[in-house]
Amino acid sequence: MSERAILVGLEIATRSGSQLAAAQHARAAAELLVSSQAVSAASVPDRRTDASSAEDSLAEFRELVLSAGAEIVAEVVQRRQRLDAATLIGAGKVEEIRGMVTLHAVDLVLFDHELSPTQFRNLEDRLQCRVLDRTQLILDIFASRARTREGQLQVECAQLEYLLPRLAGRGRAMSQLGGGIGTRGPGETQLEMDRRRIQRRLVHLRQQLDEVRRVRRQQRQRREAVPVPTVALVGYTNAGKSTLFNRLTGARVLASSRLFATLDPKLRAVELPSRRRVLLSDTVGFIRNLPHMLVTSFRATLEEVERAEILLHVRDASSPDFHAQKEQVERVLAELDAQQIPRIEVLNKADLLDADQLADGLPTGAVAVSALTGFGLDALLAAIDQALTSDPMREVELEIPQADGATLAALEAGAVIVSRDYAADRVHLRVRAPASLLGMLEKSRHAKEPDAATDTDAGKEP
Ligand code: GTP
Repeated sequence: MSERAILVGLEIATRSGSQLAAAQHARAAAELLVSSQAVSAASVPDRRTDASSAEDSLAEFRELVLSAGAEIVAEVVQRRQRLDAATLIGAGKVEEIRGMVTLHAVDLVLFDHELSPTQFRNLEDRLQCRVLDRTQLILDIFASRARTREGQLQVECAQLEYLLPRLAGRGRAMSQLGGGIGTRGPGETQLEMDRRRIQRRLVHLRQQLDEVRRVRRQQRQRREAVPVPTVALVGYTNAGKSTLFNRLTGARVLASSRLFATLDPKLRAVELPSRRRVLLSDTVGFIRNLPHMLVTSFRATLEEVERAEILLHVRDASSPDFHAQKEQVERVLAELDAQQIPRIEVLNKADLLDADQLADGLPTGAVAVSALTGFGLDALLAAIDQALTSDPMREVELEIPQADGATLAALEAGAVIVSRDYAADRVHLRVRAPASLLGMLEKSRHAKEPDAATDTDAGKEP
């Protein structure tokens, strides 16, 4: 049975109207840029953007809560001129919520804001039920979605790091926790551990994480020995990245309308119209105000983004938050130092738009697709082909002995054959192929037959 939750949003009333609470985004953004270490979220009190409105933030929070599997029984928005240090929302509002907790038999109260250790303690004491903040909620969703060992280790580390400063005085309350939102991941027994045990566990987890990453680095080095360019899918959560990934690769990655279905890197080879192969990488979805500690702890997951030759920015063209979501994605890409990577904008969910909307709203260079129906995928693959600059295409003429089955098979597998004529015991071919393949074949053919190649018309594809 799903847990019954009350949502608490916050609006700060300013002279120029109301703005989201704690719009200290400039400071947070600066911190995002300088820090590459996992930091305790306690040191970063908030990271709101002034572009976001209270309603937008609450709407997204609502999605997150539903995604975590809770039932929302009431929503409360507190308007204040400044935040209350003891309870964030002030004693009067706390009393009001307490009444609602009893009335609706509520299991947990969720704050669309980060709470300090003191605020947590005070709120749990006064509300007499479980209290979760935005970061814990997101961590909880991450915990239930992580599929690989690395993802699970990362989430557990992030949860314990967040918990540690919030532990003092919560022993009794924590030990009363059953299962449910905010308690997944490390698990009940670990949440009861004292500070020292958590620290020991953290050391252990970090060692395991190092080991998992070492193995992954080795795998990557092996992969990079035969260089295949990587194309990374990035985008706001729920934009349809996993669905597109599945479509393009024929792979079965969990696609779900629940947020953050993808936490772990997924890599699959895809063949482009030019016959060049790229590795397509599916990554975690970005969201508004993604807690900083998550950006840092999921850095490894996002390494594929940093190393990609091309980014496919998948956007939900049907979303009312179309523009705001793009801003958020840009923000995370800046944090990852990935702004300079060439990008193709992919307007997904085109099936939900009518023809006029499609014709009017297409930014230059963008490709409209529907991962669901397959519409536009050929154009997308062609656009990737065009944007790929490493390993350029060349068109050449070759004369190969009919007996050289290995070379002919390699060309069949990796090149576009433009024309083919047979003369005596030789085959005359005009092919379009990646320079790397031609180089490799040239080398082996020269070894076998020193003057076989006639490279008459070499050049980049137009
Ligand atoms: P995260 O893992 O949260 O980052 O999400 P994602 O971007 O990987 O999205 P996902 O592929 O899980 O898709 C989210 C939802 O959108 C699912 O319910 C999909 O079925 C739906 N969806 C994806 N592509 C399309 C599309 O082209 N058209 C329509 N109508 N729905 C789509």
